[in-house]
Amino acid sequence: MKIAIIGAGNVGGALGKALAKAGHYIIFGVRDPGKGKTQPPLAEIGAAASAVTVPDAARSADIIVLATPWPAVPDAIHAMGDLRGKVLIDCTNPLSISGDGSLSLSLGSTTSGAEEVERLATGAHVVKAFNTYGWENFADSAYPNAAGLKPVMFYCGDHDDAKGKVHQLAADIGFEPVDTGGLGMARSLEPLALLWIRLSIRGGRNANFTWARLTR
Ligand SMILES: NC(=O)c1ccc[n+]([C@@H]2O[C@H](COP(=O)([O-])OP(=O)(O)OC[C@H]3O[C@@H](n4cnc5c(N)ncnc54)[C@H](OP(=O)(O)O)[C@@H]3O)[C@@H](O)[C@H]2O)c1
Repeated sequence: MKIAIIGAGNVGGALGKALAKAGHYIIFGVRDPGKGKTQPPLAEIGAAASAVTVPDAARSADIIVLATPWPAVPDAIHAMGDLRGKVLIDCTNPLSISGDGSLSLSLGSTTSGAEEVERLATGAHVVKAFNTYGWENFADSAYPNAAGLKPVMFYCGDHDDAKGKVHQLAADIGFEPVDTGGLGMARSLEPLALLWIRLSIRGGRNANFTWARLTR
């Protein structure tokens, strides 16, 4: 599949490399295609990737990964242009860091970042996914000593066809995809990201741990 990735930082770069390795063509949509964070993943992927402006990337693919910092989301969605009927995979987390360094979500409980993304991205089929782990696990999802277990990739959304595509992409890069329901389930998946960050970065563990399902 041809996949546009808006933002080529930690998450966009890691997903781009993993998806390219799985046989997909990656179009990074960035503010300055000629320089910055896009260059290392572009160089590593080679012929299976290109970098263009945000509107050009969004225009040229039917599947778009949104991987910008939360405060940039309204601008990035606006720059993408007409998103009607496109699959928009929301990897963002509405993180907020207060003056004392404590971490929280800037919205949630009665709504979620994904629902806000859906409100801004008129007509797009939004699927929340690739938000509950650090990018290290997107770059390489293999846990060779885990007795055959794969890390789960929770996702949610209101459009079955879009969720089917995201399910396939998650499986392509080594996850066990788990459909958690409608887009409102992002109200649970975004706090799960906060839990992961608190345990790993703030809790002194390294980034290489994930959730796994022990029974079917
Ligand atoms: N870091 C993680 O492990 C992780 C894991 C799961 C989810 N997330 C979420 O994923 C998102 C991205 O995180 P990250 O760590 O990848 O961030 P990052 O490394 O800072 O990369 C952000 C990317 O977004 C681009 N960007 C910024 N403002 C933009 C705009 N207005 N329009 C288009 N592109 C813009 C940046 O491009 P420029 O070079 O032009 O600034 C950069 O390529 C965040 O919402 C985060 O909460 C992060």
